[in-house]
Amino acid sequence: MAPKIGLFFGSSTGAGERVANLIKQIVEEAGAAEVDLHIVSADSVKVMEKYDYLIWGSSTWNIGELQDDWALKYPELDSLNLTGKKVACFGPGDQFGYGNSYVDAIGILTEKAVQRGAEPVGWWPVDGSYEFEFSRGVVDGIFMGLAVDEDNQPEKTLQRTVNWTYWVLEEFGLYDSKAVAA
Ligand SMILES: Cc1cc2nc3c(=O)[nH]c(=O)nc-3n(C[C@H](O)[C@H](O)[C@H](O)COP(=O)(O)O)c2cc1C
Repeated sequence: MAPKIGLFFGSSTGAGERVANLIKQIVEEAGAAEVDLHIVSADSVKVMEKYDYLIWGSSTWNIGELQDDWALKYPELDSLNLTGKKVACFGPGDQFGYGNSYVDAIGILTEKAVQRGAEPVGWWPVDGSYEFEFSRGVVDGIFMGLAVDEDNQPEKTLQRTVNWTYWVLEEFGLYDSKAVAA
């Protein structure tokens, strides 16, 4: 049976939803796993414990806060035991409009995943294509996940998402680019 990835997201205007669908498509076209998409507010978060591999997606709203579906479920996350699980986060944001809290949600969710025992994966360098002042989702020049910007750089989303998704699959141990290249 193909391994399963649980992808849980919340999206208010559809940007994060597009990225969620794209990740699913990339993973399944690579033949690496099946991706179950869940809107995070639709069920108990306990559903997450069924999966060894998790992807969490939240945009950032109201200057440094989680998107509404995640905000609703955030207190419930404290009931989770994520020991032994790997969690990768992604989020859209607006780096020009909110340059002091760009993709903060990635940081908020990663901090919570670690608190609940998960191993965070999918960290990605902040390269020269971004312009912002501060993000709670960055440590030492590394995003704690995939940052996209559908407001200002929609043309970059596809390539960013493809690169990141393959990296996450490698860190999940579900894809080996060296074996594929050989
Ligand atoms: C009132 C408001 C506050 C926002 N705050 C932030 C923010 O603090 N940081 C950020 O990166 N983006 C912020 N955004 C931008 C959204 O995250 C961005 O538009 C994103 O693409 C929305 O994704 P979604 O449709 O998946 O929810 C804000 C947008 C609005 C309208």
